[in-house]
Amino acid sequence: MRVLSAALVLAALPTAFAVKAHDFKTCSQAGFCRRGRALSSRAKENPAWRSPYVIDASSVALSSDQAVFTAVVKSQLYPEVNFGLDVRIHDDGVVRVRMDEVGGLRQRYNEAASWALLEEPKVSNAIQWTVAKDSVRAKYGPKNDVEVVVAFEPLKVTLLQGGKEQVVLNGRGLLHMEHFRTKESVAKAREEVANPEEGLDTDDSQAVMEQTLPRTAWFEGETEDGWWEETFNSFTDNKPRGPESLSLDIDFPNHGHVYGIPQHATRLSLPTTTGEDAYYTEPYRLFNADVFEYLADSTMSLYGSIPFLQAHSAESTVGIFNAIGSEAWIDIGRPSPKSTTTHWLSETGILDVFILPGPTIADVFAQYARLTGTPALPAHWALGYHQCRWNYISSEDVRSVQKRFDEEDIPVDVFWLDIEYAEDHKYFMWDHKLFPDPVEMTKDVEAIERKMVVIVDPHLKRVDDYPVYKEATEIDVLVKLKDGQSNYEGWCWSGSSAWVDYFNPKSWDWWKGLFKVDSQGNSWHWVESTVNTYIWNDMNEPSIFNGPEISMPRENIHHGGWEHRDLHNINGMLFHNLTAQAVKERTDPPRRPFVLTRSFYAGSQRFGAMWTGDNLGTWEHMAVGVKMVLANNIGGFSFAGSDVGGFFGNPEPEMLVRWYAVGIFSPFLRAHAHIDTKRREPYLLDEPYKSIVRDILRLRYTMLPVWYTAFREASVTGLPVLRPHYVAFPHDEAGFAIDDQYFVGSSGLLVKPVTRKSATEETVYLPEDQVYYDYFSHHAYRGAAKGKNITVPAELHQIPLFIRGGSIVPTRERPRRSSPLMKQDPFTLRIALDQDGNARGELYLDDGETYSHEKGDFIWREYTATRPGKKSRSVRIHSRNLATQKPGEAVDGVALATYDSANDFARSIAGVRIEKIVILGMPAKPVTVTKVGGKTQMEWTFTPGVAASDKKEGTASVLVIKDPKLSVLMDWEVIVHA
Ligand code: GLC
Repeated sequence: MRVLSAALVLAALPTAFAVKAHDFKTCSQAGFCRRGRALSSRAKENPAWRSPYVIDASSVALSSDQAVFTAVVKSQLYPEVNFGLDVRIHDDGVVRVRMDEVGGLRQRYNEAASWALLEEPKVSNAIQWTVAKDSVRAKYGPKNDVEVVVAFEPLKVTLLQGGKEQVVLNGRGLLHMEHFRTKESVAKAREEVANPEEGLDTDDSQAVMEQTLPRTAWFEGETEDGWWEETFNSFTDNKPRGPESLSLDIDFPNHGHVYGIPQHATRLSLPTTTGEDAYYTEPYRLFNADVFEYLADSTMSLYGSIPFLQAHSAESTVGIFNAIGSEAWIDIGRPSPKSTTTHWLSETGILDVFILPGPTIADVFAQYARLTGTPALPAHWALGYHQCRWNYISSEDVRSVQKRFDEEDIPVDVFWLDIEYAEDHKYFMWDHKLFPDPVEMTKDVEAIERKMVVIVDPHLKRVDDYPVYKEATEIDVLVKLKDGQSNYEGWCWSGSSAWVDYFNPKSWDWWKGLFKVDSQGNSWHWVESTVNTYIWNDMNEPSIFNGPEISMPRENIHHGGWEHRDLHNINGMLFHNLTAQAVKERTDPPRRPFVLTRSFYAGSQRFGAMWTGDNLGTWEHMAVGVKMVLANNIGGFSFAGSDVGGFFGNPEPEMLVRWYAVGIFSPFLRAHAHIDTKRREPYLLDEPYKSIVRDILRLRYTMLPVWYTAFREASVTGLPVLRPHYVAFPHDEAGFAIDDQYFVGSSGLLVKPVTRKSATEETVYLPEDQVYYDYFSHHAYRGAAKGKNITVPAELHQIPLFIRGGSIVPTRERPRRSSPLMKQDPFTLRIALDQDGNARGELYLDDGETYSHEKGDFIWREYTATRPGKKSRSVRIHSRNLATQKPGEAVDGVALATYDSANDFARSIAGVRIEKIVILGMPAKPVTVTKVGGKTQMEWTFTPGVAASDKKEGTASVLVIKDPKLSVLMDWEVIVHA
């Protein structure tokens, strides 16, 4: 909505979907992108092209422990300018390459990494550099086959593994760090070439050019293209600091697929943007922006930016984290099917590149997690269903929506309030005409152990009766205009508004204080909320309706004197981070916060969840939403989802049903809708749609143990919650481009969301010679060693969902109104035998809301099924304690030397049992089923069918063991004797 007040907004809603592409720059409309692409074209056209950047060999120095090497880099074009290079290798083999101008007119922005990184990484001092005449090298790795070579002339950094090039920096000579200069010095240099002392004595055009153009023209171009100012639409961006962009080629000569750099509405394996067969013509843009009705297939930037890229082949995976805080553009090329080139252009900032050597995909996730952190373990309830719309308009509305959910027995955990709860869009301040009793209303929601989420946007209405704005002004923490003195003013939902500068440490405690329920301090605080009021942070790109590209002028000034352009992409993360801290500190001891953000950066995974913004109610958007959520999982930010139903439009019932089925297989599950749409809460659907959606949501609730267990793993290892094929089967090339089906954590569940209208069947790819069971019908499908497509039924009430043979899936199958009501519910174990008759699964549980798991209050179980002997048809089922087997890996951050199985949490669920065990693919009807050490036979039923070890397809045999009287948290063994 690009209008100036919310009232107008409502009147001016579009009738047809159309991205306002003209609001946003293309590469050729952004000076530095244009210059970077031109540099790359000149390089391509010139066979003699050679990077002018060289290391001054005499300057090479090693730190006293030999772990860090530094050197002076010179550009042969500007001998008077110095750059400093710093290369170091971390304990885990990650290589950090930094370069900055030294002794220049000013400091380039050098703080991006400090916001993204969890902590300063430890440099390895086991790794030693050796200095040769033309290069510096280091060899390391568990097999001592990783090598980093930094060549002097021209400067080039190569990471090799087993002698094969994995990552090459500046191999194509596109590195260019535009040094700071003054207008005057540039004019003078031009004058000198324009009046060559000897005059021109030739007609030869090459010679004329050489004599009349600056010496640097072959490299930098002939003109000062967008150096000092540029205008886009009606906005002029003054750049008194002059050109300061950074161009860098990062190539992967042996990797045919690259993934990551969210957020773009595109395929997971990123299509090319350069070369003759390029799929796109525009580079991928990273510039956090509120793009109205965004395209479903585009390289345009969206709300968040994570400059982390993975390059993958059947042999190895490597990663690049390029710590850029400014706008960036990335060109991707594929000179041959098995090699990829990338070219990164950023508006400002130092060069600060982390090369993640892998070599396995799990290594790359772990290396990235060590840099920027793992996803926080969410509160358990946050994995339930969230019901949102713009807007539930009153306390009574909220109560009646809750009532309708309960009448229809549809589970839901959270009700959300959008901006209309706030009087004149002054966040925190309730509109008492509509919400006379916010605390009582919240308590009514809490009665069913549900939660509320309300929106707090970053724009502060500039009126004196808004204490939040007033205090921000008084303590002087607002973003400044380019003069660095006056507060910036722009327009958003609240009309004329100001923005807090969260880069200013003075804002931190103040912001956190606002959320206090019972603060005794002087500051205003939020008495009209409860500790079960959680937060939604929106518009934090920041979105500014009357700003350039619907955002903040780049010349605005932040703390430390940095321009907004330097840190634009980090801005939204700080707001999210501070809000998450504020919510966490509402109680003592703290509880896990829940804060949803629209804008994000590398590291945002530490603070909460994200969603893919204002999607459209179309099949294309439903389908691309799946890919976007997968890309976020690759970018380390697993807690992701898209608006179920589509934000804009009125989805027909079929679409809505399919969208719920997509949603329950997203880590974050929320339905949301634009204010102009018709109400579409699931209870409003007619039959059979209503019952189908009820079943779909109940399915999500039965699987909460699976999601929670997957999140524990993500929060410790950095492995994503959603795993596309190349992650789950990194050697199977046929799966590298697949992005419409994926696995949930390590559970063995494979899902193919249906995102096509009128679908009745789907094709599903099975990557291996293994049995896959239909979750519902128990039909056993067979894959093949080289991969195989199968066709499966996918009527509206059906979800193509499979359990991979070899998995054990724990579920809780009693329908409840909200997830906290399931705390004492029993479990079902679904054992899907593999072709050898074995299976394995995990279950992690804790109280789901505090941090007491960090001191050992949790259970972490391993369930296994094994065949006692090669010829045996029996199965032994074991329950074991994983917490004592892998104490250091149990929970984030805390190595538990001793784990007490009788911890407080375990005691609180001491009575929780396994109520059912289902075994799929048993080779024969059992004779007896007994617990080892127990005397009585268990009750069971057996339905004959295909065995896991058969090479046949068809309905699998199913053994159901009823109420085996087994504890969920104790060790036990059951023998199915057959
Ligand atoms: C933005 C958000 C959307 C929200 C609306 C009003 O468009 O993306 O989710 O409903 O603002 O707050």
